[in-house]
Amino acid sequence: MCGIVGYLGPTPAASVLLSELKCLEYRGYDSAGVAMIENGQLMVLKTAGKLANLENLLNEKSPGATWGIGHTRWATHGIPNDQNAHPHTDCTGTIALVHNGIIENYDLLRDELIATGHTFHSETDTEVASHLIEEEYKNAEGDMILAIRQAAKRLKGAYALGIVSPAHPEIIYAVNQHYSLAVGIGDGECFLASDSVAVRQYTNKVIRLEQSEIAQITMHGVRLFSFEGDEVTRRPQVLDMNPMIMDKQGYRHYLHKEIHEQPIILRQTLSKYLANCDKPLDLSPAHMTFAPESIDLDPSNYGVSFTDQELRSVERVSVVACGTAYHAGLVGKYIIEELCGIPVDVEIASEIRGRRMLVNNKTLAIAVSQSGETADTIAALSEAKANGAFTLGITNRPDSHLARVTSNLIVTECGIEVSVAATKTFVAQVACFYLLAIYLAEKRGTIDLQKAKALKLDLLRVPSLQEKVLASEEYIKEKAVQYSEAKAVVFIGRGLSYPIALEGALKLKELSYIHASGYAAGELKHGPIAVLDSQMPVITILIPGSVYDKTLSNAQEAKARHAKMIAVAQESDPEAKKTFETILPIPAVSEFLSPMVSVLPLQLFSYFVADYLGKDVDQPRNLAKSVTVE
Ligand code: AGP
Repeated sequence: MCGIVGYLGPTPAASVLLSELKCLEYRGYDSAGVAMIENGQLMVLKTAGKLANLENLLNEKSPGATWGIGHTRWATHGIPNDQNAHPHTDCTGTIALVHNGIIENYDLLRDELIATGHTFHSETDTEVASHLIEEEYKNAEGDMILAIRQAAKRLKGAYALGIVSPAHPEIIYAVNQHYSLAVGIGDGECFLASDSVAVRQYTNKVIRLEQSEIAQITMHGVRLFSFEGDEVTRRPQVLDMNPMIMDKQGYRHYLHKEIHEQPIILRQTLSKYLANCDKPLDLSPAHMTFAPESIDLDPSNYGVSFTDQELRSVERVSVVACGTAYHAGLVGKYIIEELCGIPVDVEIASEIRGRRMLVNNKTLAIAVSQSGETADTIAALSEAKANGAFTLGITNRPDSHLARVTSNLIVTECGIEVSVAATKTFVAQVACFYLLAIYLAEKRGTIDLQKAKALKLDLLRVPSLQEKVLASEEYIKEKAVQYSEAKAVVFIGRGLSYPIALEGALKLKELSYIHASGYAAGELKHGPIAVLDSQMPVITILIPGSVYDKTLSNAQEAKARHAKMIAVAQESDPEAKKTFETILPIPAVSEFLSPMVSVLPLQLFSYFVADYLGKDVDQPRNLAKSVTVE
């Protein structure tokens, strides 16, 4: 989604802003722009489309400015075009502003500002902010902080702003209201970024803006103010620099690289806790190591710090998440219910809005999010917290908004995921659910030591099973090409394979734009079977175990309707060989641990279909990596 950057220092700002913006490309966007000030003149360059278009504009003008702000926009109010791209200016052309989030009362403010003589040039909610600051500035006697404070208090919603004005040389102003914004502190230079990924190439020191804060950034540092005008002091945090983060390492696409990273990250996530399988798990802060991209926040913010008494008092678990993270939550439900005997509900986070959330001080609310910035998920967890629930986050971004709203955090060891479609983060989140379930079961006495030990040892074997799937990718590619003409695809699975059917369908849809739906296999006959014919591929996830026979029967129902029969199954499975025309092979794996293996052929299948069809696999159309609006 939208990204904010800024730069102030000795270097030409255009190249720094562009390189910061490139780091935010993975979040998804549809237009981009910069505002820079040179010789007291404001220059705004903005354009629809990819950053290459902005780069061309910058090359034409080759500005020498050493101070400016930049933005990538993901359209919410108004179509993606040049006018709606950020930055936006006021009527005097001396205030330029970039914005993330949504200004909920923009309609009202726009009418009011038009009535007082302001002229608008875009359809965005953003533009009201620049005119509102202009209006407040008239009465602020040259005090820009005062004008911004007064304006910020009138803007409703969650948002972040970056602002420059030639009237205030060599200063960038930034505002954070329930959003994410960080200032990078370099040596005689400063940076602004809505995602610290953008500043890592320049500095490892950042100061994060908290809620309702304004920053005044100069080359030499930053001053922070509350909306009430009180000055706030905060020490910079030190980022752990990881040069491998944004590198394709020889792969053509980040997505392909990230699919292949899964055995490694699973090993890392598991080995963090499973060094001694004979002992009970320890997810407490003292046991935590830092994730590759972690920052030196107080370590007591990480890990699970519930007392044993609290853990025993949990009567219900409530998981909130969106998209792929929601599917990880559905796997988590099966695992926690099985090992701990605690009822688990999994909610699509956006569905919590506008209704009563039935949680209390005996509920463990878990938010799952790779970005840690998903507005729906954070809002749902905050609601649970306000209702007295214990809160826990599962994310690979310990520097995220989610980390700041939850009191407990399990950090997955997979680093930043660049491809918009989630793959490695899904597997890492699922792995954390296994660890959490074992931890809870041991604390509550619902698993015996021998069973716990056997399960931990089995978990440690999963990465090598994943490697076997990856080794068969040439065959999966061949099959992906064979089915790439499909107009739609149905995915079915039962039990722990039901969330994998949903995830397989989501991956195919978002990467290849082929419509796909995932169903509980038993539901096929209750409606979806009507869409089956000889043109429709049906992909069944068929794992030996408690629901194997019933899943096979459901697949037979599809076969009887002449569907093209594909299975994710063990190659040696004689029933699968008889029933399916194509098998996407997986090695023998226990039903209980199968989600971390069975999802891989589906990720590869979707990737190869999309690549064969020439789609933008790392940045599919209309999608954003970090969905920061509700
Ligand atoms: C995954 O491939 C999707 N791009 C999307 O569904 C994603 O999982 C969802 O938006 C949730 O994101 P989060 O994990 O960052 O909260």
